[in-house]
Amino acid sequence: TIRENNLHKEELNFKIIVIGDFGVGKTSIIGRFTEGQFSSHYKITIGADFAVKTLEWDENTRINLHVWDIAGHERFGSLLSVFYRHAVAAAIVFDLTRPETFESVDKWLIDLRRKLQLPGGKSLPIIILANKGDVTVSTVPKNIDDYCKNNDILAWYITSAKNDINIDEAMIKLTRAALANY
Ligand code: GTP
Ligand code: MG
Repeated sequence: TIRENNLHKEELNFKIIVIGDFGVGKTSIIGRFTEGQFSSHYKITIGADFAVKTLEWDENTRINLHVWDIAGHERFGSLLSVFYRHAVAAAIVFDLTRPETFESVDKWLIDLRRKLQLPGGKSLPIIILANKGDVTVSTVPKNIDDYCKNNDILAWYITSAKNDINIDEAMIKLTRAALANY
């Protein structure tokens, strides 16, 4: 019966953090992923916030993804290391319409590796999301493939929170890598 199946399911809780410059679309990506919603209204995130999405991963496994939304504005920078604690994976977001936000990815990555080390020296699964791919003036940085290869980044995706492009795919990729580390 369904009830018996549920009793035998292993339930995992994974914390994933989403970082990147202000206004790149972190809150929008999380809202799209967890609620299936998008708003074009910009409401700045103060400090941090989180949302949960439950994945029925397979017959034996349920995964609760706790997706943490970290404020991008640098003025909040020094407060935030506590929010990285116990994360098992990370997404770094930049905005395809503002090339300077890709330049910041490296800053976020250095900060991330400094603040968060996995037990046993395991490598932290990290993806890069090139967001606002729906906007026609967007340009993909030429060196992004090399950047990912050289910096142990699992994958990168062009995403759109607005049009729901590649967000589920990216989060599943990250979850699969976190599961392999588990
Ligand atoms: P902070 O909280 O300040 O760090 O910003 P954030 O990274 O959470 O950005 P947020 O999700 O609030 O999005 C900023 C603005 O970009 C909002 O007006 C969103 O509607 C818009 N936006 C986010 N994602 C997309 C997208 O994929 N396409 C388009 N066209 N606009 C987007
Ligand atoms: Mg936000």
